Amino acid sequence: MTGGPAEDATGLAELRERLVTEVQRVTGIRDERIAAALRDVPRHLFLPHLPPPDAYLDDAIVTKRDAEGQPISSSSQPAIMAVMLDQLALAPGQRVLEIGAGTGYNAALMSQLTGPAGAVVSVDIDADLAAQARGHLAAAGYPDVTVVAADGAGGYPPGAPYDRIIATVGVGDLAPAWLDQAGPGARIVVPLGIRGHQVAVALERSGSGGHWVSRSAVPCGFMRIRGALAGPERTLMLQPGLSVMLPDGLTLADGHEADGAALAAFLDGPASELDTGTTAGSRDLWGLGLWLGTRDRRSCTVAEERPADGTPARLDRAPFSWPAAASTLAIADSGGLALVLLEQPAPADGAWTGQARLRVAGFGPHGAALGTDLAAHIQAWDQAGQPGAAQLHVDAYPPGEGAPDGIPEGALLIERPGARLAVYHT
Ligand SMILES: C[S@@+](CC[C@H](N)C(=O)[O-])C[C@H]1O[C@@H](n2cnc3c(N)ncnc32)[C@H](O)[C@@H]1O
Repeated sequence: MTGGPAEDATGLAELRERLVTEVQRVTGIRDERIAAALRDVPRHLFLPHLPPPDAYLDDAIVTKRDAEGQPISSSSQPAIMAVMLDQLALAPGQRVLEIGAGTGYNAALMSQLTGPAGAVVSVDIDADLAAQARGHLAAAGYPDVTVVAADGAGGYPPGAPYDRIIATVGVGDLAPAWLDQAGPGARIVVPLGIRGHQVAVALERSGSGGHWVSRSAVPCGFMRIRGALAGPERTLMLQPGLSVMLPDGLTLADGHEADGAALAAFLDGPASELDTGTTAGSRDLWGLGLWLGTRDRRSCTVAEERPADGTPARLDRAPFSWPAAASTLAIADSGGLALVLLEQPAPADGAWTGQARLRVAGFGPHGAALGTDLAAHIQAWDQAGQPGAAQLHVDAYPPGEGAPDGIPEGALLIERPGARLAVYHT
């Protein structure tokens, strides 16, 4: 090791300890085995382009972008990795399949948790990323992790059956290969997108084994899967760093094709702002996203990477806020868009607590009407008791005709090629 105090062994141990403290503070997870894995695995060796102190921040770090500048690989935020590892409930000796090797860091954490008697296979669709992950894992002391360059939609039959399957990339469906390769008693944890709003769901086979039932559901935000399982959602860049995620693809609910330049011009123009009279906590707003997503075909998400030059962020009052980015809920059509905003800018570290008053801002010729509709949705969600991720269930049934037997009353049924997803609250 070379360099300043942060880079000697004691400095690195301190950085890792700080990361553990932060992850525990953010997630409330007290599992000592997960904390020990975070202490043991040298994340800086999986992010060799970063100074070690930056590699130990509780932040997602983009490692690859496509030609349009959209992130397509990253090392996910350690806090959400810890949450999903908690949902996965790994035990020594288990066989695990990961979809989305990325840097290889999560595979190393899982190798640490399954121990020498376990087996970890991690698949990435990009051969260059798979090769890098292999290199990082070897350098960090995990040469036994198998990294495969393939579309993870096919799983990895040679390693099956698996006790645990995890996707660290957002999906809208369950690949039949994963269900086939899951052994008896298996658990599957995936970031499942429900019209643009992701929830990390832990699924196990039902008692009868005919379908999969969710054991826990936690809001999350992963980049979307590519390849055979890619869903209809599209991210449209409006300007460098500013994008809109459209859950049904580029054709808007009014039948027009989304025009990034037009949407950007609307956002540059005057806003008509409304106070909704509703207050909510930051964690509750994911439930508002799900409410909008399942009730209004115009719903979308607007995101902005924070400019490095210190100019004020366009979305500085967006309710979802991280050091590197901010995002908000919106509805859009070809004539405008309306955004959910807070009264005051959210702190850049995302750590706003308590209740905040929600406002809406409409842009473009349809902005005022869209703003009125968005405010009405927010008020209806509030009157319904602000349903959120707590008590949310997403069960998965095999594809077929008609409502599946035993589906809970009032469940929203989402038909996908690989599974029929029943979404409901208890
Ligand atoms: C958020 S990153 C995963 C982070 C990773 N687990 C880590 O610890 O660094 C998502 C990864 O999924 C990969 N990916 C996207 N579509 C895929 C697919 N169909 N099969 C396998 N990997 C895929 C991307 O290339 C990207 O590396």
